[in-house]
Amino acid sequence: AVRLRIREALGARQPVGEVKVQGWVRSVRSQKEVLFLHINDGSSLESLQVVADPSLENRDLTFGSAVEVQGQLVKSPHKMQNMELKAETIRVVGPCDTWSFPLKMKERHPLEYVRQFPHLRCRNNTLASLLRIRSEATAAIHSFFQDNGYVHIHTPIITSNDCEGAGELFQIEASNEAREPAKKTHFFNVPAFLTVSGQLHLEVMAGAFTHVFTFGPTFRAENSQSRRHLAEFYMVEAELSFTESLQDIMQVMEDLFKTATSTVLSKCPHDVELFHKHVAPGQLFFFFPPSCRISYNEAVETLKRASQTFTFKPEWGCDLQTEHEKYLVKHCGDVPVFVINYPYDLKPFYMRDNEDGPQRTVAAVDLLVPGVGELCGGSLREERLPFLESRLQRLGLADAYQWYLDLRKFGSVPHGGFGMGFERYLQYILGVDNIKDVIPFPRFSHSCLL
Ligand code: 4AD
Ligand code: MG
Repeated sequence: AVRLRIREALGARQPVGEVKVQGWVRSVRSQKEVLFLHINDGSSLESLQVVADPSLENRDLTFGSAVEVQGQLVKSPHKMQNMELKAETIRVVGPCDTWSFPLKMKERHPLEYVRQFPHLRCRNNTLASLLRIRSEATAAIHSFFQDNGYVHIHTPIITSNDCEGAGELFQIEASNEAREPAKKTHFFNVPAFLTVSGQLHLEVMAGAFTHVFTFGPTFRAENSQSRRHLAEFYMVEAELSFTESLQDIMQVMEDLFKTATSTVLSKCPHDVELFHKHVAPGQLFFFFPPSCRISYNEAVETLKRASQTFTFKPEWGCDLQTEHEKYLVKHCGDVPVFVINYPYDLKPFYMRDNEDGPQRTVAAVDLLVPGVGELCGGSLREERLPFLESRLQRLGLADAYQWYLDLRKFGSVPHGGFGMGFERYLQYILGVDNIKDVIPFPRFSHSCLL
């Protein structure tokens, strides 16, 4: 018998003689004359209907059990499906104790419910769709960059620097050294951390390749239980050399977004539809309508003029809070909003001084989107040695970043880049409220299941 994936079986143009499918039972309906099963193997949202003689029924053939079915793939008489499998043999490979199995047949379990079972929730339709979309989106992002001449760089996960300077680092040590703290040695001789961003390593590469990107796990010890923060998340980062304008960076953000999203929509339309219909019903998805661009100055002025009262009073020099971001997105008509030119003191050392006053603003850009808030963060980098040197000196970082200063001594060019939070991207295109539902194994403060 030919082994077929369920996606292939459902898409078959004509009947196929002897076939075999393997998967998990999603429903069992036993009638006097006939036994109906639905089998799913993760290759598609839709399950394959199996039609069998009631004599093939057996007490292990239940919802959740793993089965192997052999028979004839035939045209289905039902309008709802193209093909169905007329079973000749059904073998239960692994039975399932349906009483204690937390998922139930024909129930649309809420995302909060299945979140309690990270080891089982991939067997739920919504999570399975999410994981297929996540896989396609990952490939689409890689293709976008490869097709546009970017070189993919594996930036390290273990690093000795704090790129963002926000102190949200996880430090790493060998476990036996942790047990003998008296020894005061580090495995790497220096304190080492899980990366908060691959940017500085990408900047190294931007000294030899004009277009580079990285897409990997990123770690932040943010003590936040919010629906937008994880301790381990995936970030897509790009770095462009010979770039003098934030406009170029914003263009790449927008192109990446549009290309990846249209690929996902065409590769998994049913999976995306499930989210739009059942997870975020009533929400409108335009994805990237003409966006809005405002400066940080304008943003603060707009917030000050607002009739709404904020928990955090908007003030020039203060970070934009979630409530502020929400207001700005609404104010601009519920479209993506680029906010540019942030206060110098709010941003990390690597951002380029706009010289619009004594250390007043830097060439930074954040992309805010409806429902999610900050999706991307980027900037032009300070490529001028004297500017960078004095800033690092003031921060007491000049020694640690000698290598970074070297990049400005040997063929420095204007450059810039950005990072996009991959989970926030998925949240936005699918309308998922909680970031914990767009990653297979969420890690956040006080929780590291499995
Ligand atoms: O704005 P961030 O901190 O930018 C950087 O790290 C730059 N070094 C990137 C660069 O220019 N190469 O982070 C980028 C994005 C944010 O806009 C957000 O979408 C996401 O990463 N992000 C998180 N996503 C989930 N959980 C968290 N704790 C996140 N922190 C940031
Ligand atoms: Mg940011």
